[in-house]
Amino acid sequence: MRELTKHLNILIAVLAVTLFTSVSFAGIVGSDHDFSGAGWNATGGQICQPCHTPHGADTTIAGSPLWNRIPTTATYTTHAGSGQAATAIDDNSRLCLSCHDGTIAMDNFGGNTSGTAMITGAALLGTDLSNDHPIGADAVWSGTYDAAAAPGSQWTAEKTYMVSQNTRDTANIMPLRPVGTGNPAVGCTSCHEPHNRNSQSNMLWMSNAASALCLNCHVK
Ligand code: HEC
Ligand code: HEC
Ligand code: HEC
Ligand code: HEC
Repeated sequence: MRELTKHLNILIAVLAVTLFTSVSFAGIVGSDHDFSGAGWNATGGQICQPCHTPHGADTTIAGSPLWNRIPTTATYTTHAGSGQAATAIDDNSRLCLSCHDGTIAMDNFGGNTSGTAMITGAALLGTDLSNDHPIGADAVWSGTYDAAAAPGSQWTAEKTYMVSQNTRDTANIMPLRPVGTGNPAVGCTSCHEPHNRNSQSNMLWMSNAASALCLNCHVK
């Protein structure tokens, strides 16, 4: 009986480890945004706090998700897609860039303004986004299509397509994001899900195998 219990215990332990390993990368736990073990995170292992707080959130950006950081106020050079450059970036991108543009320390949250842990490596996008996929409001394709500014007809079909699917679909993807109270635009969260909810590499909303993510917006 004791032998059987021992075997059962081992079996349960093995099952628990298997289960833990298989689910540990679903969601934010264990993802690149799990900063619970980061040296600069002085909260004693909190995951959400570097970005959110239940009380006393920063309200600089109306409607931001209980944000625990001072959002970046940097100005950006965006990719001038087909001769157009964004005049304003969407609010969600500003939240991401409050770490990823390298102007605000990651430990500057919860009221701290003396942090020193800057983002490094491939995750550091900087304020020059001209070599990155376009984000932000652009007269060519945003809600008010500006025919005069249009470089050609190539964007007409895609703009119609993107605006038409501007609600969260079953995979939770919402291609276009609000820019203040203005027209929707592409932003970081058009492609990325910061909590890794869908467990895709690079925290994308959906797999980009065979460029499926790109084809989710581009009629090509
Ligand atoms: C690295 C920053 C970051 C971390 C860490 C983070 N979030 Fe978020 N969260 C965001 C951003 C950015 C948004 C806005 C995204 C959007 O609207 O698509 C958001 C939105 C949300 C929302 C509202 C909209 C939605 O997408 O559901 C909830 C709820 C939320 N987060 C909960 C949490 C909880 C709970 C944790 C900790 C377990 C957490 N977040 C950790 C950045 C973060
Ligand atoms: C609190 C600071 C912070 C905020 C806010 C933040 N990030 Fe990050 N993010 C990081 C850091 C640091 C890394 C790199 C982690 C590493 O290299 O281990 C990272 C990594 C990533 C990666 C790479 C994931 C991978 O698997 O390679 C993506 C994509 C990303 N972030 C997107 C976003 C987006 C989109 C937002 C906003 C919705 C956002 N981040 C907000 C700090 C942040
Ligand atoms: C049009 C879709 C799209 C948009 C918009 C977008 N990304 Fe990405 N991002 C991707 C894809 C796809 C990858 C994976 C790249 C690869 O496979 O080489 C990626 C990779 C990344 C990485 C990982 C880089 C690395 O080499 O480890 C980071 C960090 C990141 N994105 C942050 C951001 C931030 C911050 C924004 C907003 C300023 C943003 N992304 C906007 C699609 C997008
Ligand atoms: C959320 C919708 C969306 C997704 C997903 C998306 N794009 Fe785009 N893409 C756009 C929009 C909108 C523009 C036009 C922006 C502008 O003109 O400022 C654009 C512009 C472009 C351009 C033209 C840039 C130029 O210089 O004219 C290329 C190339 C491109 N995207 C490639 C990609 C690739 C590759 C992917 C997959 C990694 C991708 N896109 C994913 C919406 C998207």
